[in-house]
Amino acid sequence: MKSLFCCLLLALALLSHHTAAIRKCDLQGLWRNELGSNMTLSALDAAGTFSGSYHTAVAATNKQILVSPLQGAQQHPGDKGQPTFGFTVHWQFADSITAFVGQCFVDRRGKETLETTWLLREEVPSRRDIWKATRVGTSIFTRVK
Ligand SMILES: *[C@@H]1O[C@H](CO)[C@@H](O)[C@H](O)[C@H]1NC(C)=O
Repeated sequence: MKSLFCCLLLALALLSHHTAAIRKCDLQGLWRNELGSNMTLSALDAAGTFSGSYHTAVAATNKQILVSPLQGAQQHPGDKGQPTFGFTVHWQFADSITAFVGQCFVDRRGKETLETTWLLREEVPSRRDIWKATRVGTSIFTRVK
């Protein structure tokens, strides 16, 4: 009886481990990055597109930060696994736009991480100022909810 119980526990442990390992990464939800910026992503539609809002913790301007809308798409929306995606944030307090690309990774415990790279394009007065118009960076998001 005792050994049967032991095997049952082992089977359950293996099963839950297996389930975690094949868990599909889901972009929908509330995410926070290393700077404390928060973003909410909607569920994907049938085409794999989504919308959301971005509340940044940092800005290159002195203007008051406003929550800003975002629009994006996930690659292969029907598949399991660790999908790539992209989205743009249309800043409501600055003449700039940021494009993010990234991939969602899931570890063995089911913890999801969005590893992203972004380009921020600022509006400049003339073509002579293009050299300083673009910033590049990386950002790592983890799920809050
Ligand atoms: C992100 O959310 C947390 C928890 O609600 C909050 O403390 C923090 O101020 C938020 N960050 C921004 C930039 O709004």
